[in-house]
Amino acid sequence: MVKVNELVDVAHGVQSKRVFWDQEVYEQELERVFGRCWLFLTHESLIPNFGDFVTAYMGEDKVIVVRQKDGEIKAFLNSCTHRGNQVCHADSGNAKAFTCSYHGWSFGADGSLAALPLEQSAYYGKFDKAGAGLREVAKVDSYRGFVFGCFDAAAPSLPDYLGEMGWYLDTWMDGTGGAELVGPPMKSILRCNWKVPAENFIGDGYHVGWTHAAAIKVLGGPLSGLAGNAEIPFDDAGLQVTSRHGHGFGVIWDGLGLIHDDPAYREYAYANLPALTEKMGPWRAKLYTGHWNAGIFPNCSYLYGTNTFKVWNPRGPNEIEVWTWTLVEKAMSPELKAEVVKQAIHSFGTAGTLESDDGENMETCTWSNRGPQTRKGVMNSQMGQINDGEHPELPGIIGKNFIGETSYRGFYRFWAEMMQAENWDAVRANDATWKDALIKGAAEAKAAERAA
Ligand code: FES
Ligand SMILES: [Fe+2]
Repeated sequence: MVKVNELVDVAHGVQSKRVFWDQEVYEQELERVFGRCWLFLTHESLIPNFGDFVTAYMGEDKVIVVRQKDGEIKAFLNSCTHRGNQVCHADSGNAKAFTCSYHGWSFGADGSLAALPLEQSAYYGKFDKAGAGLREVAKVDSYRGFVFGCFDAAAPSLPDYLGEMGWYLDTWMDGTGGAELVGPPMKSILRCNWKVPAENFIGDGYHVGWTHAAAIKVLGGPLSGLAGNAEIPFDDAGLQVTSRHGHGFGVIWDGLGLIHDDPAYREYAYANLPALTEKMGPWRAKLYTGHWNAGIFPNCSYLYGTNTFKVWNPRGPNEIEVWTWTLVEKAMSPELKAEVVKQAIHSFGTAGTLESDDGENMETCTWSNRGPQTRKGVMNSQMGQINDGEHPELPGIIGKNFIGETSYRGFYRFWAEMMQAENWDAVRANDATWKDALIKGAAEAKAAERAA
């Protein structure tokens, strides 16, 4: 078992470089993180009718996600119970049955084994079909139309797992009548550890002006001043959030639509603002017109306001398959949706300008740790720690800096907790104290500053 307390120092915001490379860390993640957390699968609008399905990954495990006759959504391991062949090879479609290409076993939309060739002559009519259905994923649920699955029956409910993050998500998932994803997802391979993009999206406002300097300059608009960190607005420009189960985000106020310099999207959003303020209050109204870099632990990330929505599917410790949808609001006109999709593809599609900038860093952040001497080192995520704390009106732990690493620290706090915990009961036992190490770290940082 990996000694996780040697890998993450929560109070001091420090992580070992081993987390990006070691095979044993990865194997433990597959069991303890991907085997027990809720993982994003699809959006309900992409499988509206009985028999509609998509295939997806849950960690390294392939699954089929299917709309049932009664409207429920179920997910099954995409592995034949005969000799283990992949049952469904399509990315999406509508099927009344999934028939294995190897020997022809056929499974219903409910995962049950419906028929098998030569049942009478080869099995003498005695085969127990009831016990040979596809293995069902223990929990599937949807939050405001966003569908997640979880292998662990003992996990909290999806709303409880999202926890404080649900309050924030409701801003754009519920504020104007709902959000949806435009698919099918674009797919690409990056040779990096899955946590590098997950931590980047959840908390890294710091890299934007530097990594994306050229692209931001070319894209133009009000954010072009960020290029090369020329004009960074610091005071009250935004904040960072981390929550009980490691979800979090950073927001820059009034940043919606600005990366794409998109007046139509901004007009649409600002027209919604009075009704949204009435419905959700002033804080969420302020969040609604912000730009968020965000993550739902472990491997689902999105940029609200630039509207790319991603899952980083792990393929071993140093490779991922990136799946990218576009996030739109249901109430947008078809023209506006089409425009948002076009722009999201330009920036964060598989060949997007900003995606390419990030991809290079993500790969080298991973591969530089191939060297065992390099891996003895640690990484720093202490930025803005001095300003972390609770807020009278906002749930979770709040960092006052929009360029800060509060949500990085929170991501690794929960990662370490899941990697160490024997089961969900052991995680639940920390519910009352999860903020302590983060608050202690902030207090120490403040004391150090006073002493200096
Ligand atoms: S492996 Fe699927 S029918 Fe044999
Ligand atoms: Fe980036």
